[in-house]
Amino acid sequence: MSKQQNLDEISKRIEQLRSLIEHHNYKYYVLDDPDISDFEYDQLFSELKDLERKYPQFFSPDSPTQNIGPAIDHATGSALSEFEAVATFRKENLFTPVRHLVPMMSLDNAFSKEELLAWGQRIDKALGDKVGFVCELKIDGLAISLKYENGNFTQAATRGDGVVGEDVTANVATIRAIPHTISLPENTSDSVVEVRGEVYMPIPAFEELNRKQGEAGGRLFANPRNSAAGSLRQKDPSVTAKRELGFWPYQLGQITPQSLIRFSSHIQSLNWLSSIGFMINPHTTYLDTLDKVYEFCQYWQDHRHDLDYEIDGVVIKVDDLAQQNDLGFTTRAPRWAIAYKFAPEEQTTKLLEIMVSIGRTGKATPFAKLDPVIVGGSRVSLATLHNQDQVAIKDLRPGDMVVVRKAGEVIPEVVAPVVSLRNPNAKPWVFPTTCPSCGGPLVRLEGESDTFCVNIDCPAQAVQRIAYFASKSAMDIEGLGEARVVTFSNLGLLKDVADIYYLNKESLSSLEGFGDKSIDNLLSAIEKSKTRPLERLLIGLGIRHLGETNSKIIASKFGHLDEIIKANFEDIVEIEGICPKIADSIVRFFASPHNRYVIDKLAQVGVNFETSKTVEVEQNLKGYSIVLTGTVQNYSRTQAEDLLRSRGAKVTSSVSSKTTLVIIGDSPGTAKITKATSLGIKTIPASSFEALVEGNIDLI
Ligand code: IVH
Repeated sequence: MSKQQNLDEISKRIEQLRSLIEHHNYKYYVLDDPDISDFEYDQLFSELKDLERKYPQFFSPDSPTQNIGPAIDHATGSALSEFEAVATFRKENLFTPVRHLVPMMSLDNAFSKEELLAWGQRIDKALGDKVGFVCELKIDGLAISLKYENGNFTQAATRGDGVVGEDVTANVATIRAIPHTISLPENTSDSVVEVRGEVYMPIPAFEELNRKQGEAGGRLFANPRNSAAGSLRQKDPSVTAKRELGFWPYQLGQITPQSLIRFSSHIQSLNWLSSIGFMINPHTTYLDTLDKVYEFCQYWQDHRHDLDYEIDGVVIKVDDLAQQNDLGFTTRAPRWAIAYKFAPEEQTTKLLEIMVSIGRTGKATPFAKLDPVIVGGSRVSLATLHNQDQVAIKDLRPGDMVVVRKAGEVIPEVVAPVVSLRNPNAKPWVFPTTCPSCGGPLVRLEGESDTFCVNIDCPAQAVQRIAYFASKSAMDIEGLGEARVVTFSNLGLLKDVADIYYLNKESLSSLEGFGDKSIDNLLSAIEKSKTRPLERLLIGLGIRHLGETNSKIIASKFGHLDEIIKANFEDIVEIEGICPKIADSIVRFFASPHNRYVIDKLAQVGVNFETSKTVEVEQNLKGYSIVLTGTVQNYSRTQAEDLLRSRGAKVTSSVSSKTTLVIIGDSPGTAKITKATSLGIKTIPASSFEALVEGNIDLI
């Protein structure tokens, strides 16, 4: 390609990116109905910024990188912005436009340590002075500007395009975290104070709202951000009042007269907001080096799910206001702040097909086959769709572009289709009437949400039962995963769980790709599993409704499988914690001749039927509600929490008046310590963790 051709291509790509970004700005800011994830938007934006930096000959003042929103006549201020034009067009749906006194700017993003450090270097170069930083969680809600005139709350506006937003005063007035009056240092008339921050919906409130929406056959919100935006867009403020919304302030806008309040640092302005009745996010932290800032970002990337609201990054601001002033702004964002963005937990991708899998109980679960995407840090190509109703409520259609979410350890989920991108010929999906494995009928009982294959000889069910028996939570047979179970079953080697113990060198050595070593390993893992305690065997047998905890209770009460088989309904139901449904299920299970035949086969090969002889763990922390902050040496967070729970403690993630003890590890959350101290809650260092677990600490 000649140099000129190459430049033509680049110019074309720049134009394409500009119009794509304009389109997505409009969808996001004006219609509140984005087609793509924030991450994908940020990628388009970064690509455009990079190209414009490398090829300044294509600079345009109209580029979205140069504006905080759609074009506006700054000279007269009279031209309609795209937002206002749309507002006029859609008058019946929208709220009155409000021109912000000070534009609501965007933030530049950093996606890596390098980008964060590069920002630091630009600051160093510009200032040549020592700089301190304030780190704030980047709340995933929507930005709101609150206006206080002479100390009284008079207006709330959304960000809109940054220049003009929507008047949502009546709705915002219902949010309890927002004070209606603030006390000012002097009683000046005509004073104006603008407070900016994020309105958000806590995750439990979002889940509850979606549950209710689903029950009422209404539209589900894709995430807490959308539900917060939707709640503020209500025509009737009494609807907003019923939605549980929170507010974290993070910035001041206009202050008139300027003499009203003067601050020299950002932290000071936050402290002032706190003194006049706003709640400042407790994780806001001042740090004096970018290395510490990066550690803070990493900490919250790992612990974002400890919070009961969503965050998508950390906002870092230069603390000193004189330094902020020296650094100033680009046309769209301050140079003194940056958003460190976490890896995305939501992506859009294509829903290739909806299929149904048959579980060990015969439950038919729909699942999505997706065009693979990286989301929540891993490659996702399958996601559960739960049941027939969920597919219908979300109206997912094969071929749709869909939003996929994977957060923390959670199984990937298809959140919603992007309806605006739907092929007009896409047909609603219909739940199959026959089992994809055995061809038998799929049955859904009235009033139940699940559908079942009721053929007890269904090969898919048998495979799942055997794979479950061998899985980690049951008999833990290493090397016998689902894929191998399928292979062995297809060859007729496994018909029930007991057949596992009749596999031998001879039957396995004829299998292709299965060498001597793998066979030996598998056979010794199978042999080892014979000694698992009774509770694990009970889990492995897959008795309906009998989970891990109740298996332990039953195993320790009866001591031997033969005693459970002999027991009747009354014997079982009288055990504390065992409900009639479970007792009935146990009795039915052992009454089945087929199940008794399988158990006899297990007995013949010497599978252990007895309870483990471990002594019961002393519940010395019973009644304690413990918060752990920071890391405990030699223990992962889960291990430490599990240990506390095994001793009877309740472990929670945030400090409240109900907390009885806070354990302080390395790099703790300072806010948690401050709160514990102010509530007079006992704290202990993590160096005493083991002594605490062993009951060697006097807690009174
Ligand atoms: S400061 C000029 N601080 O992030 C400063 N923004 O990507 C502008 N956001 O529109 C914003 N948490 O909606 C700031 N602690 C925080 C924030 C925050 C969330 C949002 C805000 C803004 C967007 C920019």
